[in-house]
Amino acid sequence: MNTQPFSEAEILAFRKDTKGTTALVHFNNAGASLPPDIVTDIITAYLQEEILNGSYETEEKYRPQLDNTHTLIARLINANSDEIALTENASAAWDIAFYGMNLRAGDEVITSEMEYASNVLGLLYAQEKHGVKITVIANDDEGNFPLTALEAAITANTRLIAITHIPSTAGNVLPAIEIGRIARQHNITYLLDASQSAGQMPLDVQAIGCDLLAVTGRKFLRGPRGTGFLYVKKALQPQLKLELMDGFTITSITTHNYTVRNDARRFEWHEKNHAIVLGFNKAIEYVLNAGTDRIWQRVQYLSGLLRQQLQAIPGVVVHDTGTPLCGIVTFTVTGFEPVEIKNRLSAKRINVNVGPAKSTVFYMHRKALTSVVRASVHYYNTEEEISLLSSAINTIIQSGTLAANQ
Ligand SMILES: Cc1ncc(COP(=O)(O)O)c(C=O)c1O
Repeated sequence: MNTQPFSEAEILAFRKDTKGTTALVHFNNAGASLPPDIVTDIITAYLQEEILNGSYETEEKYRPQLDNTHTLIARLINANSDEIALTENASAAWDIAFYGMNLRAGDEVITSEMEYASNVLGLLYAQEKHGVKITVIANDDEGNFPLTALEAAITANTRLIAITHIPSTAGNVLPAIEIGRIARQHNITYLLDASQSAGQMPLDVQAIGCDLLAVTGRKFLRGPRGTGFLYVKKALQPQLKLELMDGFTITSITTHNYTVRNDARRFEWHEKNHAIVLGFNKAIEYVLNAGTDRIWQRVQYLSGLLRQQLQAIPGVVVHDTGTPLCGIVTFTVTGFEPVEIKNRLSAKRINVNVGPAKSTVFYMHRKALTSVVRASVHYYNTEEEISLLSSAINTIIQSGTLAANQ
């Protein structure tokens, strides 16, 4: 494990590999990161080959590389390649896992107030449609997930613990490993949404002890839009309900029965956009080469610097609490709607995003937040870019104060 901070030369090389860094200051990595050029280059090259040689024929040529995507993902999260299914996004991955649990009246699910919108919709649906009981655990006063509250919420009917590792609109990280320890002690299935943590920090499904892990490709993994994956622990695969199938799901079929394949790819559609799968493959390779330990170190450093600078600006309220904090920095500015801050920064070619209440509905509702500005850093960002963002916000506030006084 290499824990050396990235050198200046390495950061420069990452930026040289990423065309987008020359055109703008990108702090919307929690929305979608700038991909390394190698990702988009391979996608366009693959599409060109499809045009010239035929789509099935191109697929056949690239079959070994396409199949290797599962192996690369497995390496990233310390799983086996037969435990990985490619999906179009994280919501699809989470849904396959959650609806596959086939929860019924009397079953109980424990989640946290940081759960993501798509997942909350699944939980509310299960509650309304099947009478499943949902227990939501709020953060403690320090902004941390309280493990004792999780222990206390478990009953003989608890069938699932569903947790979002890093929330969409807050800077905290949930204690995935400690939650996993509790899930295992009580023999409860554990579904982790790692959409915002994958590519930002190290992920090891063996250490976490989760049974299911849902991830999207476009965020900190720097993959193309429309990519994602689901990890399904081998032992759980036969138990997860499978109702959506195509010819790729099975190893044999007769006129009256069929045999399902013996790996997680039973949960994957055969028909997919192979160009972006190959792009995703390159993105994972790029993350593996950079090293998630080193990425995590830099992301924490840069986001710490940003929080420090923002906190020093009168009128800015940083909302992130808890330990540790990650690359997602959320704040509001007195007198300005988050969307106005986003638009004014965008005019200066600085990208941030607005986190709406629905993304993390339980938490935002409890905090009475309707939306926040979300600035999310990645390892290819620089100290200079952080200063640019802080001074741009300072200027926006000054101009607002001037206008108010005129
Ligand atoms: C924590 C979290 N989980 C899941 C998702 C959903 O990902 P996707 O849009 O790929 O379905 C998001 C997207 O913002 C997210 O932030």
